[in-house]
Amino acid sequence: MSVEIRPADVSEIDDVIALNRMNLPENYPPQFFYEILSQFPKTFIVAKHGLQTVGYIMIRVEKTLSVLKWVNRAHVISVTVHKAFRRQGIGRRLMLIACNNAYSEYKATEVYLEVRVTNAPAISLYKKLGFEIKEVSVGYYSDGEDAYVMQAQLPLKEG
Ligand SMILES: CC(C)(COP(=O)(O)OP(=O)(O)OC[C@H]1O[C@@H](n2cnc3c(N)ncnc32)[C@H](O)[C@@H]1OP(=O)(O)O)[C@@H](O)C(=O)NCCC(=O)NCCS
Repeated sequence: MSVEIRPADVSEIDDVIALNRMNLPENYPPQFFYEILSQFPKTFIVAKHGLQTVGYIMIRVEKTLSVLKWVNRAHVISVTVHKAFRRQGIGRRLMLIACNNAYSEYKATEVYLEVRVTNAPAISLYKKLGFEIKEVSVGYYSDGEDAYVMQAQLPLKEG
């Protein structure tokens, strides 16, 4: 059975919360997930294997001042794939679709994210998609680990 990538439905938030708790130390209250889905439905994407939710990505679009003009920046808040479904290109597809929806639906011209400096799989994924390390955010995570802030111009290229 193939894996379908599509915008999340509100009925899938419980699955998303479960995946988040299973796979990432950064967890959020349920209300946060509902708010992101209602504000940015085109960049809250799930990966479905039949009825099973096997991955998700959440992107928020933020207005920031850049060289004296307002620009929309996409912020990847959270992305993960179920352990049993990794290394099949699902993470890459989630990133491509959500980031490029941020470009086409919400007029974001760049995308950024924070990633643990020791998270080699994720850093490798982001670099392959054209992200570059912009800075180190010292002690960013609650356990004291540093984050790389990585950034790319939109749209991302498929290649
Ligand atoms: C990061 C994550 C989302 C990648 O999902 P995935 O579906 O396995 O990724 P893909 O199959 O699309 O992999 C794309 C590329 O990412 C890199 N990558 C993914 N897993 C990797 C691993 N275990 N080791 C090294 N590189 C890896 C590779 O460059 C890979 O390309 P390749 O398969 O051609 O070598 C997944 O490992 C995950 O959920 N990790 C835990 C949560 C997390 O760290 N999220 C990111 C927080 S910033």
